[in-house]
Order: sequence, then structure tokens, then C-alpha cells
Amino acid sequence: MEKNFKEALAARRSYYALTNSSPISDKEIEDIIVFAANNTPSAFNSQTARIVLLLGEHHKALWTIVKETLKKIVPESAYPKTEQKVDNSFAAGYGTILFFEDYAVVEQLEKDFPLYKDNFKGWSLQASGMHQLVVWTMLESVGFGVSLQHYNPLIDEEVREKWNFPQTWKLISQMPFGKPLDIPGKKEMQPIENRVKIFQ
Ligand SMILES: Cc1cc2nc3c(=O)[nH]c(=O)nc-3n(C[C@H](O)[C@H](O)[C@H](O)COP(=O)(O)O)c2cc1C
Repeated sequence: MEKNFKEALAARRSYYALTNSSPISDKEIEDIIVFAANNTPSAFNSQTARIVLLLGEHHKALWTIVKETLKKIVPESAYPKTEQKVDNSFAAGYGTILFFEDYAVVEQLEKDFPLYKDNFKGWSLQASGMHQLVVWTMLESVGFGVSLQHYNPLIDEEVREKWNFPQTWKLISQMPFGKPLDIPGKKEMQPIENRVKIFQ
């Protein structure tokens, strides 16, 4: 049964043990991304988010780039653990979504609206976060396990070259997903009264 918005948000978690299978068709995954791109707000309706779906060999190629990049900088003795994490938690999944922001648009806004110049990069990141939450929650609600990763900026150049993305696209995050192998443990929550204040 479809979850309502509140149920879907409450169910969203980070999953680190994935398999290479999907509860829905590739077209339905694509529809989720298009839905997010069309229904998530952005500052001045600037639509700066660029979202890329990597499936099959493309998904695998991304995690090979991550491993090759890490191999150059992680101490040799620590690398096997790193490789295992990338293989089991990310590469083992069904696909990965890349979130970019188009700085051609962001920098044009900085020129066009000098009064708000200092805000546009922050707003761009905020809008990207909103897109990421929408996609993450929608993937979870159809049965995927999802996590959010940040191997940028280490992998930026390789990724740009591999898929020929424009220079102006800034990589913000990587979101691997697949059918989950386990259920996340209970999350520790800080006291709500320290985090939410009500005046009435
Ligand atoms: C802005 C942001 C950055 C994050 N970066 C990472 C990351 O690089 N690697 C990772 O494994 N999880 C990352 N996470 C996931 C958080 O660690 C996770 O959402 C948090 O611990 C709460 O757990 P939950 O997702 O199971 O509710 C990130 C989450 C946010 C919102």
C-alpha cells in the first residue's frame, strides 16, 4: 500500500547492505526522479538541480571511480576495508543517483540580483537537499534501501570526464540504492525540547 507523506518520511532511513535488485521497473525509477525535479522548490524558481540516474554498468563504473580514487589516497593497510565498504554498501546496489547543481545558473543569478548575491550558493545547496530528500523518501516508499554519500570533490573530474557533464555542473552528492538486506537499527534522538521551541 502507498504510504502517506508522514509515513514515508518516518520510514526513510540510511541502508548500507544492498542487493542488485529492484522492486519497480527502471521507468518507474526514472518517473520518481522526474517527479522530484518537477515538484521540488528552488530559490527564485531557478531550477538549478541536475539529477543523473546511473543504472547497470554506469552504476558500477561510478563505484570503480570511487575505489580507484580512494586507492591513491588511503593507506595501503586500510584500503581493503574501504574497498569492502564500497563494494557491499554502494556498488552492490541496483543504481546510484548523482545530484549536481548548475553553477552557470547560480552565478547568473548572482549577477542579475546583486542584492542577494551572497545567498545564491547557499540557496542552491538548500534546494539540492530538498531534491535529495524527495528522491530518498520516494525510493524508500517503493521498497528500496538508500543512503547518501559524498565522495565529491575527490571524484569530480573523473565523473565529469566519464559522462561528459558540463564544467558548470557541481557534484553535490551520490545516492546509492538497492533492495535492502537488513533493517537499520534504532536511531538515537536528542531531546526534542532542545531542538524544537514553541511559543503560544
Ligand atoms: C547533508 C547530509 C550529509 C550526509 N552525508 C552522509 C555521508 O557522506 N555518508 C553517509 O553514510 N551518510 C550520510 N548522511 C546520512 C546521515 O548520516 C543519516 O541520515 C543520519 O545519521 C540519520 O540516519 P537515518 O538516515 O537512518 O535516519 C548524510 C545526511 C545528510 C542530511
